[in-house]
Amino acid sequence: MSLVSLGVGCIIGAGIFVLTGHAAAAYAGPAISLSFVLAGIVCALAGLCYAEMASIVPVAGSAYTYAYATLGEFVAWIIGWDLLLEYAFGATTVAIGWSGYVTSFLRDFGVELPAAYASAPLAFDAATQEWSHTGALVNAPAVAIVVALTALLAVGVSESAKANNVFVVVKLAIILVFILAGFSSVSSTNWIAEANPDGAFIPPAAGPGQYGWSGVVRGAAVVFFAYIGFDAVSTAAQEAKNPQRDMPYGILGSLALCTVLYVLVSVVLTGVVPFDQLGVPDPIALGVDALGLGWLATLVKLGAILGLTSVVLVLMLGQTRILYAMARDGLLPQAAAYVQPRLRTPLYTTLATGALVAVLAGFLPIGLVGELVSIGTLFAFAIVCAGVLYLRATQPDLERPFRAPLVAVTAPLGATSAFYLMSGLPLDTWIRFVVWLAVGLGVYFFYGRARSRVGRAETKG
Ligand code: ALA
Repeated sequence: MSLVSLGVGCIIGAGIFVLTGHAAAAYAGPAISLSFVLAGIVCALAGLCYAEMASIVPVAGSAYTYAYATLGEFVAWIIGWDLLLEYAFGATTVAIGWSGYVTSFLRDFGVELPAAYASAPLAFDAATQEWSHTGALVNAPAVAIVVALTALLAVGVSESAKANNVFVVVKLAIILVFILAGFSSVSSTNWIAEANPDGAFIPPAAGPGQYGWSGVVRGAAVVFFAYIGFDAVSTAAQEAKNPQRDMPYGILGSLALCTVLYVLVSVVLTGVVPFDQLGVPDPIALGVDALGLGWLATLVKLGAILGLTSVVLVLMLGQTRILYAMARDGLLPQAAAYVQPRLRTPLYTTLATGALVAVLAGFLPIGLVGELVSIGTLFAFAIVCAGVLYLRATQPDLERPFRAPLVAVTAPLGATSAFYLMSGLPLDTWIRFVVWLAVGLGVYFFYGRARSRVGRAETKG
């Protein structure tokens, strides 16, 4: 139960509270619920492989740690570098979502934050592939939450598990209230795209990735973000009573619960609000408003703010621990592995992570960052799936307390389906991703390789 709660704690966040609206309005229409099913299937396949990988190495860690122990330094570096996209950019995305809900919450009390200081100065138009300036200066609330949480992480978070449990209950309560309150008000005309003469659930295609089936796939790649975090369950492997048995339950249990909730939320949301109106920073609150329950909308915003706070915290915490592990293995400068003796936290890493996330969150638009998170994480999943298959072939006798069922099908399907979702993302996201990987390879070959523990041992040896 605790593991599922930990999983749900870092899973439910900006994905469902924010990106659902953007993905429905721009890509999938009412069929966004299908996108959630599709993304859920990809995650389940990867989750099975992930659980196997985690059970082989029952220490606290991330895909980086597992890859380092089983697949070697180079693959581990690629995953670790790639996980920066998942964790640091993930925290950025959620912080921007947090800002949207805070702005909207304050507005309910007559406090209007000036747009120039509460939204992204940069915008990217995917259609024309052009950057523009929105006229805003900085997304100050997003920067503020990152700075506050960085301070918390720097002094050390004890009792974080307890606080997390409270946040999880609050988040689940909001989601359940929304589903229950909304179900009876759903109007099926909202599910049928108005512009669609056939009255079909999937709006007719208007371009690549815009409605039609390709829109459902792109929507899935975007809302895939909503599932990210179930892998954080594995970071608690050391604290589990029986990690071999509990890890798979923790990972798959949280995933199953979230899939059901997400599908229900998106069915209700697109049933109470016409999908083309959902591209707002606080779509769930808009949904509650549409139900005529204004007071509840304010409550929902408050809950979302608390819930999003915990996700930013967990993602930043995960990021600092991954960077710490990479530095300990000699792949990053040693300063990153420095642990402040009194606070007992990796101080420099924490501050650097906070600074990076704060700058990104202060200037970039949420859709762009979120898509980068999705593509990076999907890629890490594909490597994990391929890695599990590779290990079965090369080290068949390795002890595997948990074995992914039908691995000959599960692993290749997991990897291919992850690539399938990646293929749905826009070209500009692909370009950013490839550049990111290229920079990572450069850092490895010009810095990490010679200085790492493995590299030094080879030179000596
Ligand atoms: N899954 C997390 C979220 O949606 C990252 O915020």
